[in-house]
Amino acid sequence: MLGFFDSGLGGLSVLREVQKQMPSYSYIYLGDNARTPYGSHSHETIYRFTKQGVSYLFDKGAEMIILACNTASSSALRRIQMEFLPKYYPKKKVLGIIIPTAEEVIEQTKTKEVGILATEATVQSFAYPKEITKMDSSIKVHQQAGTLLVPIIEAGEFEWDGLDSILKKYLKELLERSNKIDTLVLACTHYALIEDKIKKRVPSRVKIISQGEIVAKKLKKYLEHHPEIESSLDKTGKRIFYSSEDSWRVKNLFNQFYGEPVEVKKVFLK
Ligand code: DGL
Repeated sequence: MLGFFDSGLGGLSVLREVQKQMPSYSYIYLGDNARTPYGSHSHETIYRFTKQGVSYLFDKGAEMIILACNTASSSALRRIQMEFLPKYYPKKKVLGIIIPTAEEVIEQTKTKEVGILATEATVQSFAYPKEITKMDSSIKVHQQAGTLLVPIIEAGEFEWDGLDSILKKYLKELLERSNKIDTLVLACTHYALIEDKIKKRVPSRVKIISQGEIVAKKLKKYLEHHPEIESSLDKTGKRIFYSSEDSWRVKNLFNQFYGEPVEVKKVFLK
């Protein structure tokens, strides 16, 4: 099975796109909704939480895991790959979503100025500026933390006026830094869930990049290049959902963002 891990609901926006393009594979999803948002924690805490999530998914049968979370990808992926997997799961793979997104940014920007809207931890890791400028040093990267967005999304408060005001503030702060920004990355998978609201607040010259389709496209390519992994994947179309929180609210939001009713099983991560 292909495992997807996120701090909560955001990874569903990625899973939805991936399974649209690759429906026959089996997918297992884990959202750590009880401990979200990850973005306001330290890198060390995010690493510890991510390790627990990854172990859980492997123990439940994932052959490979996508960290469908920028915060976990920027704060924990490297250590998971370098320290954790070799010791505990030497035959398994964990992939992140920052490099595929950075590659897309480089293809899209014409003005060579891009905006990154992400969690505090992702911004502080400088993962995006580092990866983007490694590929093209002429690109200017402007970052903005959207600190309050994930808690609002996880609370399901989409119609609250405060969401609009806070979005207005973050986007204004970001876009005022340069009028040459032509590409805006929703560099937190939760933000894809409010993409429509973000679109309304961004001038039409700015192209919005949301990660679901990019990850789907790159994952497909990755599997084509790694037949040894591809052939080990279950293709019986299973869909399994876990969350560390089983409140009515979380179950409801899973249904809403997955797009159909799902059974969410409660897990205790340790
Ligand atoms: N969805 C996650 C991301 O892509 C982060 C959410 C959080 O702060 O927990 O960064």
